[in-house]
Amino acid sequence: MLELEKFDLKLNTDIIGRNFIYAEEIDSTNTYLLDKTNINLPDGTVIFAEKQTKGKGRKERVWYSVKDQNLTFSILLSNKKYLGKTINLVNLASSLAVAQSIENLFQLSTNLKWPNDVLVKGKKVSGILLEATSQGSKVERLVIGIGINVNQNLFQGIFNIPPTSIKIETNENVERERLLAEVLNIFEELLDKILTNPEVILRDWKSRCRMIGERIEVSENDNTKYGIFDDIDENGFLLLKSRDNKIEKIHFGDVSVQ
Ligand code: BTN
Repeated sequence: MLELEKFDLKLNTDIIGRNFIYAEEIDSTNTYLLDKTNINLPDGTVIFAEKQTKGKGRKERVWYSVKDQNLTFSILLSNKKYLGKTINLVNLASSLAVAQSIENLFQLSTNLKWPNDVLVKGKKVSGILLEATSQGSKVERLVIGIGINVNQNLFQGIFNIPPTSIKIETNENVERERLLAEVLNIFEELLDKILTNPEVILRDWKSRCRMIGERIEVSENDNTKYGIFDDIDENGFLLLKSRDNKIEKIHFGDVSVQ
């Protein structure tokens, strides 16, 4: 069980995680924050669950996580200043926060896969799912759902990227409270940078992405595109260069090296 006092002592934020909801078991932390009945929760609310019965991954996939071993939580952002053009930068910032936390606390080197997978030695240690509710064309609430494989020893099933956990990579049992607080502390700092200094987010994200310059394929539903991963633009979108040197902006999709 997550020790809330330990977590609280390490949390240095002003907004993110100051309203903290702990759940022993829930369908999905993302679903909880998106639910209409929870519309009045304050900006920065974090819900953490020891177990999700319907944990969601990107592209309708399922996110499996063994009870009490890992971190599965969602962050609510409802402050309009982050909900305009910058949403994709929030997406990059969330994976960067996880990557930097893992580097700081465990001296592991991480690698980021667009848009938001965190890998250690080519294996997936964390996945992030952004979901939003909107009114007309305006996003009202953004939910950032983060799953980090922390102390899980064994993964069963078929995965598009092989999974790993911090414990597997370090051979040590990890204090989840400290890691959760570190991710939230860094995420709040990065949110601030999105408004004041977005180039830093892009620079730090790109420095951990080994795919730039590589020949890749991007798949979205049944549609697959091929080209060179040219760059990430100022809003966090992937720029794909085709054979005739045309640049296409990719908003979402699964990327793999060809
Ligand atoms: C992916 O890599 O496909 C994204 C996985 C996101 C999983 C997290 S766990 C907490 C939050 N609640 C969910 O139902 N999903 C996200």
